[in-house]
Amino acid sequence: MAKRCDQSPAWAELQAHFAADGRGFDVREAFAADGGRFGRLSFEAPEVFADLSKNRIDAPTLALLLKLARDCGIEAKRDALLRGDPVNTTEGRAVLHTALRAPAGSGAPFNAEVQASLDAMLAFAEGVRRGDRGEIRDVVHVGIGGSDLGPAMVVQALQAYGRRDLRLHFVSNVDGHDLAPVLAGLDARRTLFVVASKTFTTQETLANAQAAKAWFLAQGGTDVARHFVATSSNTAAAAAFGIDTAFGFWDWVGGRYSLWSVIGLPIAIAVGAEHFRALLAGAHAMDQHFASMPLERNLPVLLGLLDVWYRNFHGFTSRSVAPYHQGLRRLPAYLQQLEMESNGKGVDLDGHALSIGTSPVVWGEAGTNGQHAYFQMLHQGTDVIPVEFIAVKRPNHGASGELAVKLADQHRKLLANCLAQSQALMQGKTSAEALAENAPTASQTLDREVLARHRSFPGNRPSTTLVLDALTPRSLGALIALYEHRVFVTGALWGINSFDQWGVELGKALCNQLLPRLESGDVAGLDGSTAGLLNRLVAA
Ligand code: F6P
Repeated sequence: MAKRCDQSPAWAELQAHFAADGRGFDVREAFAADGGRFGRLSFEAPEVFADLSKNRIDAPTLALLLKLARDCGIEAKRDALLRGDPVNTTEGRAVLHTALRAPAGSGAPFNAEVQASLDAMLAFAEGVRRGDRGEIRDVVHVGIGGSDLGPAMVVQALQAYGRRDLRLHFVSNVDGHDLAPVLAGLDARRTLFVVASKTFTTQETLANAQAAKAWFLAQGGTDVARHFVATSSNTAAAAAFGIDTAFGFWDWVGGRYSLWSVIGLPIAIAVGAEHFRALLAGAHAMDQHFASMPLERNLPVLLGLLDVWYRNFHGFTSRSVAPYHQGLRRLPAYLQQLEMESNGKGVDLDGHALSIGTSPVVWGEAGTNGQHAYFQMLHQGTDVIPVEFIAVKRPNHGASGELAVKLADQHRKLLANCLAQSQALMQGKTSAEALAENAPTASQTLDREVLARHRSFPGNRPSTTLVLDALTPRSLGALIALYEHRVFVTGALWGINSFDQWGVELGKALCNQLLPRLESGDVAGLDGSTAGLLNRLVAA
């Protein structure tokens, strides 16, 4: 079994296949040649339908990619993950976010502890919703990275399941411009602060928590213990900070995989215990699909293989995510951490430098907004960037009467835009087609052939479309778990550790060294640029 995909026999076969058929593959020709292409290349997973047919793949490519997965022992690696083997080798830890969503009595690792922790966290959340901590109207969640992005993204996505009289705020940045405007609108007596930090050592979170506590006391707040709660795997540090109520979790929950743990407390406060359990159930359904579906129909595996095909054979360096649902507008930011912090690695598990590319840049914006910003580049730029569209069939506007009618019409417009973009990316437009068109806004004086070249599109630009029936706690849970497993699959194929993040350490250490210099102005021993900038920033 090859540890890394580039050392497996299938790798060389894929290279030969790419040179012969992959490089010049044209999706339009593939559709013309195969009337059953959509049916053959679309897949069902729990809560998620995936159309992969607009990608530069066909049956022979998929067969070789699946061989690659088998050569790399992807099933054994997956089973080791799910079993709780210490797959995070550099930290000597298991990686068991899947255990957090396994139902009671399922036999999953740590099931009894997980259920007890979940029950306690949900009981607390329901208590806050009921008024056990007084009439709480605002919850300020203070955390960063994995202790922010997941909960913030989910609370926004499930806004329709929230309560208008209970507002959730997320503060992450050490920049006081994040915290200050949030506090400005609050009544200390009706505010609950949740301080979320796995390590409880993170500079940004501790600074914001300290400032929030100072503000609370200055507002006449007397009962810190009642208005501050922590979620952390370092409950001792939370207690030292002065927080009595702390929900703990385990080192086998990675920060970017932690929304399913007590870090999900703001989600549970926002939507309630029942919906939080539905979120877990959706993720668990995807876990089961990942664990048991044959690789040929295993959606996280297929998406991971497609990522390797594009990154390592086509050489595409980024992927754009376009969720056509306003509630999912933070999904790209969430996925940036999930994918780039997990798979942005340069050495394999044995510490050998990799000679193949790893994590692409993941970026995006909610549709249709992105269309009016950077889609120009996706359609006509010199780089090919695979796009992932996410469409939601049924909206949940919570509107009635005439407004509901109008918004239903807007939803059709939204879906038409989503379909049109992937169609346009694939279809393109030749110069001849552009020449034949009437373009009333175009120059009347420029040479018509030149103008047609400006107005043509290369097409054959790949995209995947994921479809949810509705954006519900369950479907969202399944969607997030799909992405988690896909990131695992690519990381496992590349033979890297997807579960550490040593790359963030150097900047943190240098920040700690620079901090006193920002007060003293001392630049001795610094490089010329840093010294010059520091002088500029501290000058009177
Ligand atoms: O700096 C990166 C990181 O360690 C992330 O992996 C993590 O999600 C984030 O910081 C926050 O860490 P913590 O939850 O310990 O405050």
